[in-house]
Amino acid sequence: MNVITVENLSFRYRRAAEYSLRDVSFEARKGELLGVIGPSGSGKSTLCLTLNGIIPRSIKGEFSGDVVIRDPRTGEEYNTRETPVSRLSTVIGLVLQNPESQLFNMTVEEEIAFGLENLGLERNEILRRLRWVLEVTGLRGLEREFPPNLSGGQQQRLAIASVLAMEPAVLVLDEPTSQLDPVGRREVLGLISLLRKEHGMTVILVEHHTDYILRFADRVLVMDGGHVIMEGTPRELAEEVETLKKLGIKLPPSLEISHELRKRGVIKAPALTEEELLSWTGHP
Ligand SMILES: Nc1ncnc2c1ncn2[C@@H]1O[C@H](COP(=O)(O)OP(=O)(O)O)[C@@H](O)[C@H]1O
Ligand SMILES: [Mg+2]
Repeated sequence: MNVITVENLSFRYRRAAEYSLRDVSFEARKGELLGVIGPSGSGKSTLCLTLNGIIPRSIKGEFSGDVVIRDPRTGEEYNTRETPVSRLSTVIGLVLQNPESQLFNMTVEEEIAFGLENLGLERNEILRRLRWVLEVTGLRGLEREFPPNLSGGQQQRLAIASVLAMEPAVLVLDEPTSQLDPVGRREVLGLISLLRKEHGMTVILVEHHTDYILRFADRVLVMDGGHVIMEGTPRELAEEVETLKKLGIKLPPSLEISHELRKRGVIKAPALTEEELLSWTGHP
């Protein structure tokens, strides 16, 4: 079942000379991890903003094509042109690139409850959701902390927690680890894996570091100049090392090394992970 259907989507920001998205079409299926990679300025963040309706509902411009979100729990479909962002946020949640820009309350607890109070939920339901997201994001015990005092990884998990509190079926994350140290990065990627495995969430992940995407994504979109120039499984993408490198996309060492080894006839296929590379070169 498709949860996201994007058809012939083009968008130009008001007063911008160029289109930021050009004739983009793709689908995301229920439970899938769809990776999005591409050089800076290729339209990844703009695409994220179209998925939860901020474009074209709040940020206006020249918009054509369709973005249709289907709630896998009810089967109901929402065209983002016609659906208020507040309604969409209960089906598809967006975590922005910079966690601080999403945090503005005095405590962790208030930050998470904020959106829920706006939904008009009852006190008991708010408390139930609060307990659940604190648990799943590993923030229990930090309820009363001042968000700016948290570590980078904790802040990003808090940003994810306040989006999860809306109980969306789809989570869109725009470079969630770009500002984090390796520890924070591991925390956030671990959380994403958990949400998929244990909660069956559909995840759209824009990531600069391609190692996680190549290891865990079901499919990957490659963007350049507002176009989706490639779409495939990590295995299929691994056949396009030269193209990806030309775009300036940083690939995991295992893929680069195996690509070179294959050119020299040492191994037959590119390796997506270190484990694969080691097993194929006879060093388990
Ligand atoms: N608010 C905006 N107004 C005008 N142009 C924008 C705006 N945001 C992004 N752009 C332009 O749209 C293009 C795509 O940007 P963006 O979606 O942020 O790419 P990415 O996330 O891949 O780096 C870039 O050329 C950028 O300058
Ligand atoms: Mg971006």
